[in-house]
Amino acid sequence: MAEPSLVLEELETLEVYGETTVGWDANTPINETVDEEGNPASGRRGFGVPDVRAPSQRVYDHPEVEQLRAHLKRNNGIQGLEICNPDEVERAARIFRRDGFVVVRDLLDEEHLAIFRRGSAKALRQILEVPGLGKRKYVTESGRLPHRYSYGTASASRQMLHEEEWAAMVDLPTTTPILAEIFGSMDYMVLGAGGDLCLPGAVEYQHLHVDVGESNQVSEGRLETAKNIGIEIRTAEGSDEPDLATRRRIVDFCPAVVTINFAMCDLTWENGPIRQILGSHTWQMRPPSPEDEPDWMRLSTLVGAPAGAGVFRDNRAWHGATPNLSREIRSLPNVEYGAPWLGSQHKKTMPHEIWETLTPHGKHLCRHIMAEPGVWPAGAGVMHPLGAERRAAAKRMGGSGARQHGSPGG
Ligand SMILES: [Fe+2]
Repeated sequence: MAEPSLVLEELETLEVYGETTVGWDANTPINETVDEEGNPASGRRGFGVPDVRAPSQRVYDHPEVEQLRAHLKRNNGIQGLEICNPDEVERAARIFRRDGFVVVRDLLDEEHLAIFRRGSAKALRQILEVPGLGKRKYVTESGRLPHRYSYGTASASRQMLHEEEWAAMVDLPTTTPILAEIFGSMDYMVLGAGGDLCLPGAVEYQHLHVDVGESNQVSEGRLETAKNIGIEIRTAEGSDEPDLATRRRIVDFCPAVVTINFAMCDLTWENGPIRQILGSHTWQMRPPSPEDEPDWMRLSTLVGAPAGAGVFRDNRAWHGATPNLSREIRSLPNVEYGAPWLGSQHKKTMPHEIWETLTPHGKHLCRHIMAEPGVWPAGAGVMHPLGAERRAAAKRMGGSGARQHGSPGG
């Protein structure tokens, strides 16, 4: 079995950028998913949709891995991917509306990149220190593919806003103007924060999916946002209602949720860059299954986005994680924002004392998710790959009222 002490030693020095010995566990079968208790699952697989074309072994220099690596080296990445500077606010919003995402460099300065790397490494250590079953090095997250974790779902509160490192990213001088341009207002809101990561040796593709479905409803508030971002409202003859073309523009260009994922390392052809399908945020059809996904979609990735950059994603756009065949952890922590027209009913996952540290605009953004003073959000502070453990922790802490920051129990 994997020496527990070796795993722990590895974790002590773990960083979410640069070379590492973390990952590449040959004893974790390809496409294996585990259930809520950690048993290999054959039934409900959740996000662990198998990649039927994956290499047969999780071994760095296995011939099938080498073959996939050579293919990615030649072909991986969107041709001519546009990368904006943070001050290109209108251009970034224009590309975002056209493509369903936009990459912007230097969203994080050196200090903020260092802070977010520290927070990401700390959270990942907590996830990986749980001893693996049998000879496996790590516990796979319930309902996901091996070597892939989500900071959000691995947290027993389902969010990371109790961590100062995540909270420090909600209102940045580089991101706020672009978000305000996209939402046409300063009254958008933070819904949560988390992100995803893959260890070296995550050789399977994650299936293409959307994070948020489209309701196709045009509420008063959404119509207001449409006017704010310059959509001309035309009405059908003899009616006060917007005509079909206008309604389509409103739905296409006024997303309910926008997420920024921040790159902790340069995204390369080899280390599992996220893939985004251009224009798919406006499509009413479902993404193809892994069996039916064409190779051009598998290669439609954000290769070239440097560390400190971020991708603003319309959460309706088709996207998915890709193989990390390198020796570097690929971590993309995120912050999730809601449109100004969304309601105020959201889970209170940000402790009040964290909220108090924010800028005035940051406080405004987090108005719907801040907990009452003295109330620690249930589950906050417990990171675990298994659903059953997270639920137990949240239940233990739920409704218990006051808890001090730094002593979240569990
Ligand atoms: Fe996703």
